[in-house]
Amino acid sequence: MHTTSKAESFLTMSIPITDTTAAVTARTRLLRTPGELRIASERWRSSGLSLGMVPTMGALHDGHRSLIRRARAECDRVAVSIFVNPRQFGADEDFARYPRPLERDLAMLAGEGVDAAYVPDAAAMYPRGAATTVSVGSSLTRDFEGETRPGHFDGVALVVAKLLIAARCDRAYFGQKDAQQCAVVRRLAADLDIGTTVVVCPTVRDGDGLALSSRNAYLSPDARRRALAIPRALGEALRRFAAGERRAEVLAALVRDRLEEGDSLRVDYVGVVDADSFEPLTEAGRGARIVVAATIAGTRLIDTVGLGIDEPPDVPSLVGAMVELDARSGRALRSRTCSVR
Ligand code: PAJ
Repeated sequence: MHTTSKAESFLTMSIPITDTTAAVTARTRLLRTPGELRIASERWRSSGLSLGMVPTMGALHDGHRSLIRRARAECDRVAVSIFVNPRQFGADEDFARYPRPLERDLAMLAGEGVDAAYVPDAAAMYPRGAATTVSVGSSLTRDFEGETRPGHFDGVALVVAKLLIAARCDRAYFGQKDAQQCAVVRRLAADLDIGTTVVVCPTVRDGDGLALSSRNAYLSPDARRRALAIPRALGEALRRFAAGERRAEVLAALVRDRLEEGDSLRVDYVGVVDADSFEPLTEAGRGARIVVAATIAGTRLIDTVGLGIDEPPDVPSLVGAMVELDARSGRALRSRTCSVR
């Protein structure tokens, strides 16, 4: 993959595990190697307990939490992996600066009653000499994220295959927000006879309608306000679909026009696709997905809605800052974001 040299330079980078981390994770076992994960899983499964797995790259938010809670509700034991996978980042992407708040993440997992946090470092995941690649072909990886981020899905497929094989979990949980990733993982699990059921969970949005993402942390307040064009445009397309519009081209153009209004962001793609094959559609039926990627002030965000399935996100029409001033000096005392729906 195109990031090999960068990835290799991180092979020896290990994640510091401090005393605080150990205390925080008293309830949650910390597993550091594929072997440790396999042993924990074998122990549970031989006692007749089912295992759910939630793969993540950390910087956990309520979107991840929703996957963990679903796994908790459906499985006897839950393992969550935290691994910022170098193989799925392009050379000019944000691998080095991707947020890694490990202590906070482990505290969250303990609070959620997660049984195992699997936190391998790059050397455990990709030992020297590792040479196997996993590539999901066809229309699933050709367009959209696959086109904009060459090699990305090979990296995702490899790491997800390794996680599911080591965990031998009954169920693995993924977020619909990354719709193309879900389709790739479903295909991979079936094609490699992994025997894990892939469960896709709905997108969790913030109060302002923006889909939660670890990358939202990069957005300044102004960039965030501009990013709301994404859920707003998708909401409008959902309403047009509900009103009877079925032409994919018209729905895609509507979203693109809304996003390009005011030059506040750069559109990478807008597509109307079949949710399983990711083939572009000409006629959009119920269950088809609109997928969007856009870059705002250097931060790339993706989002998606299911036509006839999702409700339009609730996005404020006006967002501004309210500043409280000191009456004498005129200096700002406090400010907060306010919005009008
Ligand atoms: P990451 O971006 O950390 O996401 C982990 C999981 O959380 C993914 O399945 C993702 O779709 C889901 N997720 C993210 N934001 C969400 C939201 N707002 N609502 C619901 N679910 C959400 O996706 C990855 O990591 C990686 O590619 C990974 C699968 C771990 C492989 O490295």
